[in-house]
Amino acid sequence: MQRNLTDRVALVTGAARGIGLAIADRLAARGAHVIISDIDYEAGERRVRHLAERGDSAAFMKVDLADPMCVLQLAREAAARFSGIDILVNNAGIVSTGPIEDVGLAEFQRLIAIDLTSVFLLTKSVLPHMAASNWGRIVNIASVAGQRGGGLFGNSCYAAAKGAVIAFTKGIALEAGPFGVTCNSICPGLTDTDLTSSLTDKQREGIIATTPVGRTGQPEDIAEATAFLVSPAAGFITGVTLNVDGGFMRY
Ligand SMILES: NC(=O)c1ccc[n+]([C@@H]2O[C@H](COP(=O)([O-])OP(=O)(O)OC[C@H]3O[C@@H](n4cnc5c(N)ncnc54)[C@H](O)[C@@H]3O)[C@@H](O)[C@H]2O)c1
Repeated sequence: MQRNLTDRVALVTGAARGIGLAIADRLAARGAHVIISDIDYEAGERRVRHLAERGDSAAFMKVDLADPMCVLQLAREAAARFSGIDILVNNAGIVSTGPIEDVGLAEFQRLIAIDLTSVFLLTKSVLPHMAASNWGRIVNIASVAGQRGGGLFGNSCYAAAKGAVIAFTKGIALEAGPFGVTCNSICPGLTDTDLTSSLTDKQREGIIATTPVGRTGQPEDIAEATAFLVSPAAGFITGVTLNVDGGFMRY
């Protein structure tokens, strides 16, 4: 595997499992020093030990993305410990399902805090270092739900958060481009993780039936696309909304 991220510091949120874990794994294998950040301390520490045993470089930093103060503390501590973040992957997210009448204000605000506000806060925190070094990569893990208004398994509220992430990504691409910083979003289709484990076989089969490649996504599918977007080779790609969904969004 090409080690094209040597000397880069990468912060990946929600990296204790699922898509974030696969991304952290892939970036570490490419030579980045990876900060695995998650609310799940034990799983996060376990992942770091695994990467270290493999000879890769990683550290764990705990965060509760629902709490803006905690997010800002993560950004401050990560910058101080590692003298700046070169690659930010805003991956962590929670989902809201069901009709709007079942979603209370507290649930909606928690969803927005984790899925959107943390993206704003971390992006704002890492940009000065990236701009000063004239190099940076930001990848936001959004969702096809953010383009379709929900529908796969997330509801209107989840779609609103992810749709905002897509729009925010384009705005940051515009602002940060002159400073050598790219910002792109990836929209996974249905991907096999704990997040989607509650889907019934019937729901899963229905989605597969409208997916040209005829299967669900794996975390590694999303990780590979992320690894490309943060690579030196992708410096001319920014503001993109990349569907990694087996063709689900083709029409
Ligand atoms: N799995 C899919 O089908 C799918 C599809 C489209 C988009 N996505 C998006 O991909 C991203 C990753 O999803 P996943 O399927 O790997 O989910 P997952 O639930 O398997 O993993 C999410 C990770 O985020 C962490 N996390 C949750 N709340 C947190 C908080 N408050 N603070 C810090 N960390 C927290 C969890 O501990 C976990 O490690 C999410 O943004 C999700 O919306 C997933």
